[in-house]
Parts: sequence; structure tokens; C-alpha cells
Amino acid sequence: MVFLGPPGAGKGTQALRISEKFGFPQISTGDMLRDAVVRKTALGLKAAPIMAAGELVPDQIVTGLIEDRVTRADCDRGFILDGYPRTIQQAGALSALLHNLGCPLNRVVEFRVDEEAVVRRFSLRLTCRNCKAVYNKVFNPPRRADVCDKCGGELYLRDDDREDVVRHRLSVYRSQTAPLVRYYEEAGLLSVIDADQPIERVASELEALVLQNGKA
Ligand code: AP5
Repeated sequence: MVFLGPPGAGKGTQALRISEKFGFPQISTGDMLRDAVVRKTALGLKAAPIMAAGELVPDQIVTGLIEDRVTRADCDRGFILDGYPRTIQQAGALSALLHNLGCPLNRVVEFRVDEEAVVRRFSLRLTCRNCKAVYNKVFNPPRRADVCDKCGGELYLRDDDREDVVRHRLSVYRSQTAPLVRYYEEAGLLSVIDADQPIERVASELEALVLQNGKA
């Protein structure tokens, strides 16, 4: 499955829940890139200023990351792509890759949200440095301030969550990623989730969708 939607729509929050419940790995290009930035690899050094500015990292870089990741053994039963593809070019590369693996794309879920609500969510987001779990100071608070419930890791505010960068990321989404909604609708693969609903409600609709697709 592909989770598609603007920054802050809740893709990571829900991908982690589905991953824990059904055992499919969550594959987040954002997390992979942030790891490379922390480790100061050549890729990380190239990606860091692009991500800090809220722009997209070049297609061939992220597609290379995905190619390496989805061929690992834990992806044999399926996986969730969180934040990939993000351009028509990436969607074409994904389609070719899945075709070669003999593993067709099952469903694309569009997380539809109000942009102003998203801007408010970001100022309240906390992310675990260690396991990448996502919290929200109001809607989904950790039990202890600044400590991850799952692994005890440190919670932090992401560099690209400043309001000006968030607004730029939203405009990049509108111009470069939103065309994928029509692309996947025309392919008959799109389902839309109202991601303005509370986290639990979004989660139960998604679980129903996963089960329905498992039967198809
Ligand atoms: P990435 O890490 O993918 O960021 P993003 O898509 O912008 O998504 P976010 O992680 O910000 O939001 P989300 O939808 O996962 O929401 P979350 O669950 O955290 O990408 C970062 C950067 O990496 C990009 O800008 C780009 O530079 C680069 N990059 C990554 N992939 C790339 C690609 N394929 N191509 C090129 N470049 C790429 O939730 C947000 C907050 O809201 C949290 O606090 C959460 O608790 C809260 N929340 C979630 N759901 C709800 C709800 N229903 N109600 C209330 N609050 C909620």
C-alpha cells in the first residue's frame, strides 16, 4: 500500500499502527533520509539542506533507497510506503520496480486534510529520535514529557516543522505530489480517507481498508 497525503496528514502515525497490527514493514523515505543526515553519509550531506528548505530530494536518490529496501526479506508479505512516491516520475519508477518483483500495488490511500489544521498539528508534533514514533502534545501526548512511550528515546521537534517551512512543504505537495491523486484514481487504485477525523477514527477506517484489500 502507498500512503499519500500532505505533510502532517498523519501518514507516519497511521503507517506505524498498521505496521504493528498487521506486521507489514513501514517504509518511510523521510525517516531513511533523516537517518542518513544524522549519520552524515554522502547522501545525508546532500539531502540535509534540501530537506531543511522543505524541497524534494532528487527522484533518483529516493528511488535508489526504495529499491534497496523493498528487496529485503521482511517485505515478502507486503509493505507500506509512507511518503513515496511523491512525483509522477517516482510513481513510474515504483510501478516498474513492483512489476519486476511480481508484487502489484494493492491500494493507494489518500489522506485528505484541511491545510490550516495541518499547520497547527506541526507546532505540536514530537518525534522519537530512536524509534521514530510520532506524538502530538495535544492529540496524542506521550505519558512522560519528552520521553517516548515505546522505547524511552528522546522526543524532539523536527527542523522542518517551522511554520514557514511547513507552508512551503504544503505548496511543494500541491505542485509536485497532488497530481498523483488523479494518476492513481485513473489506475483504479485510490481510496480516500478523511484525515481530519480523530486518530482512532482514521485508524479504524484504515484497518477496515487493509482487511478488505487482503480479501480482494
Ligand atoms: P517526510 O518525513 O515524509 O515528511 P512529510 O510527508 O512531509 O510527512 P510528515 O512526516 O511531516 O507528516 P505525516 O503525514 O507523516 O504526519 P504525522 O503522522 O507525523 O519527508 C520529509 C522530507 O524528506 C521532505 O520534505 C523531503 O525533503 C524529503 N523526502 C521524503 N520523501 C521524499 C520523496 N519520496 N521524494 C523526495 N523527497 C522526499 O502527524 C503529524 C502530527 O499530527 C503529529 O504530531 C501527530 O501526532 C498528529 N496527528 C496525526 N494524525 C492526527 C489526527 N487525525 N488528528 C490530530 N492530530 C494528528
